[in-house]
Amino acid sequence: MIDLGHPLFKVLAALLVLIAWRRWAPLSYWYALVFPRKAVWLRWSWRHVASGCGLTKKRYRWWFTTVPGLVASTGVVQVKRRFQRVAVDTKPWMGLPRPVRHGFRITFHLLDGQVPDDYAKVCERLAHAWRIEAVRVVGSRPGRVTLQGITRDPLSHVAPAMAPAEPRDGWRAEDLLRPVVGVLETGAAWRMDLRLIPHWMNAGATQSGKSNLINALIVGLAPQPVALVGFDLKGGVELSAYAPRLTALATTRTECLDLLSDLIAVMGARMLACRHSGVRDIWQLSDAARPIPVVVLVDELAELYLTADKAEKDQVTRTATALLRIAQLGRAFGIHLVLSGQRIGSDLGPGVTTLRAQIGGRVCHRVNDPETAVMTLGDLDPDALVAARSIAPELPGVAVITGSDGRWYRARSGYVSTTAAEHAAGTYAAMAPSWNQVAASGLGHELPPRDDTPELAA
Ligand SMILES: Nc1ncnc2c1ncn2[C@@H]1O[C@H](COP(=O)(O)OP(=O)(O)OP(=O)(O)O)[C@@H](O)[C@H]1O
Ligand SMILES: [Mg+2]
Repeated sequence: MIDLGHPLFKVLAALLVLIAWRRWAPLSYWYALVFPRKAVWLRWSWRHVASGCGLTKKRYRWWFTTVPGLVASTGVVQVKRRFQRVAVDTKPWMGLPRPVRHGFRITFHLLDGQVPDDYAKVCERLAHAWRIEAVRVVGSRPGRVTLQGITRDPLSHVAPAMAPAEPRDGWRAEDLLRPVVGVLETGAAWRMDLRLIPHWMNAGATQSGKSNLINALIVGLAPQPVALVGFDLKGGVELSAYAPRLTALATTRTECLDLLSDLIAVMGARMLACRHSGVRDIWQLSDAARPIPVVVLVDELAELYLTADKAEKDQVTRTATALLRIAQLGRAFGIHLVLSGQRIGSDLGPGVTTLRAQIGGRVCHRVNDPETAVMTLGDLDPDALVAARSIAPELPGVAVITGSDGRWYRARSGYVSTTAAEHAAGTYAAMAPSWNQVAASGLGHELPPRDDTPELAA
């Protein structure tokens, strides 16, 4: 007969409950059991960890010390006590760790001479010392830096597709050109803020998730009063499914060049309108007077730069110049670029390096070669390169990105199938302005139809 009251059974039952709790309710398990233990350990071990990571500073203090070893004439050892200046290791003050979904946050007081970057540089060391997945700097203010410890990679799960907003819900003015496209490693929403960072580069090897990010952008932007323009030199296979919501789609090199000249003409007209109104950019105009913002989606930038013969070379040079002009002036006049490609480097052709320098937003998916990561993220932080190079092929959609605060983050786009993006494009087809509406918006007068406009007909 099995005695269920036996202490061994009780221990076994308790263990099973804990295992089940951890398996099926990991969040409450983390908050109730693991985090309190971890928080105590973090504070207790902080002196050693800070010293090991080079975050302590030597400070001289007056200390009341004992000086042993004075032998009196009687032969008895006399101990003298006196004030002395001694060097002591001072650790940065650590605030109380606060639990978050997949880890914790701690604020530190910087020691004199320290900057948040000193902490960013030792994040990997801290992660090892704290036995966790990663540590990131997530905030700073004068004299303080906040770190987030990440205990489990939240990006290993496929982020759910963002539900496209229902037409009846409309869109919120503060979300204009700020679509949520996925999640950051810190658990926060990944908002691609085109108002703050006007142009973005979306790089990655094949099957790394570039088109998925474009799908996520289409779903996020479709309900908004913006014009979407597509360049798809893969013969239109990627973007033509979204044609109902696109204001224009170019699928051949000649169409691309025409569309780029049209965009430059629109930019020129907006420039004049701004000058006429005495403002520096369209965002200083009233809502009613503001021209419709345009988001230009380019899938496979390299195709725009490929040349087969001498005649095409001239086309490529004109394309490169047009893209560069849009990148330089587009922000002020509401024309935004999202350039996707497997490689975005000088080997593509003239002007690509200059173009890249104008693109502030970077998304680097998994890459095949270190050079592409360097091209995309090189001017950010060496750690960003390491993070990009370690993205596993089985995690498509994971990328290293520039955040709105100028720091880099690991992020994963929400999974948006072509069908879902197509559905969003169809639902919001009525929101797609015609080219003439785009060209005339904000100018206070109607333009003649597109084909009659000499500079647009090109
Ligand atoms: N965020 C994501 N979550 C889950 N799966 C994803 C995600 N992003 C992409 N995928 C999957 O990865 C595969 C490749 O994605 P995608 O087509 O976007 O890659 P790509 O970089 O555009 O490739 P190519 O250069 O060949 O066009 C797709 O099957 C897609 O379902
Ligand atoms: Mg693709």
